[in-house]
Amino acid sequence: MRAVVCEAFGGPEVLHVREVPDPPAPGPGEVQVRIRARGVQYVDVLMLAGKYQFRPDPPFVPGNEGAGEIVAVGDGVARFKIGDRVMSRHRLGAFAELGNAREENCNPVPDGMSTEEAAVFSGAYHTAYHALLQRGRMQPGEWVLIHGAAGGIGIAAIQVAKLFGAKVIATASTDEKRQACLEEGADYAIDYRGGFRDKVKELTGAHDGVDIVYDPIGGQVTEESLRALAYGGRLLVLGFLGGGPATPRTNYLLIKCLEVIGVRLGAVTEHWPEVGRDNMRKLVELAGQGKLRPRISHRFPLDRAGDAIQAVIDRRVIGKAVLLG
Ligand SMILES: NC(=O)c1ccc[n+]([C@@H]2O[C@H](COP(=O)([O-])OP(=O)(O)OC[C@H]3O[C@@H](n4cnc5c(N)ncnc54)[C@H](OP(=O)(O)O)[C@@H]3O)[C@@H](O)[C@H]2O)c1
Repeated sequence: MRAVVCEAFGGPEVLHVREVPDPPAPGPGEVQVRIRARGVQYVDVLMLAGKYQFRPDPPFVPGNEGAGEIVAVGDGVARFKIGDRVMSRHRLGAFAELGNAREENCNPVPDGMSTEEAAVFSGAYHTAYHALLQRGRMQPGEWVLIHGAAGGIGIAAIQVAKLFGAKVIATASTDEKRQACLEEGADYAIDYRGGFRDKVKELTGAHDGVDIVYDPIGGQVTEESLRALAYGGRLLVLGFLGGGPATPRTNYLLIKCLEVIGVRLGAVTEHWPEVGRDNMRKLVELAGQGKLRPRISHRFPLDRAGDAIQAVIDRRVIGKAVLLG
């Protein structure tokens, strides 16, 4: 099969399409997927650079999400049969024509959802859902501030927050990205550079801040976010794209009874697998009803994986980038 191979740690230039052996027949509890589309995301950038928490040694085939149809099933697989369309999550190896995945890491593609949408659905929407509703305990009517809102997990968070009745302020760096956030349902979209706390206080009026901040950015943005929270607010820590981890001022937490809450999607599968399965059942149902739909701004053939990675690095992607073929 053809696969995109990372041959050394580095940037997009370390990726090359090669002929590699097909994966082995799926083991017990596994399926083999003929992958037709894969999501490209910031995690792939970190993994290529050898900077992700999981650090495979090159050569390896990157990619952890995809969609296609099942071509083989291992012993004990009950939910799927050959020919079923699935969205699949992989530890590695999705930038290839074939990939094996655990049955529990696959979900059916609902009618009406395209293969490319399915490829980028699970990770982003499960992250947003788990973060806002489970870790953040979001209630209808609450104010939510979403940073990196035009990114993959950001657009998903806008859609999930609106679907469950929140009021959303999105932050993004360009007019084009802010316009996309409004199209996806955000009530307001603001520029965060140069400060956002005063604008948030103005928009939330007497509520005097937001109830939840969804923060994949870190650094200064986290520090200012604590000052944009209303009494009893919750700050959800999702990542550190711009400035690394922050050191929260605990006096702010005390005075306004704030909470800082870590969110890691991997923890759901590791520690609360039943919750994870239930979340995905609900999310696939909502996608089938057309209530959640990924936004895809960039499409590349498999042999241009490096260009897709570069688009993510350059912050040109709005929503998601996919590799097709
Ligand atoms: N905790 C979890 O379970 C979990 C799950 C999935 C992803 N993540 C993490 O969440 C973060 C966002 O993931 P994503 O897939 O949404 O990424 P993405 O699609 O690349 O979007 C990230 C957004 O962040 C903003 N940004 C700010 N500073 C940036 C910088 N220095 N470099 C790049 N972008 C920057 C950009 O928007 P502007 O141009 O508007 O600033 C960009 O649109 C990543 O760190 C990822 O590892 C965490």
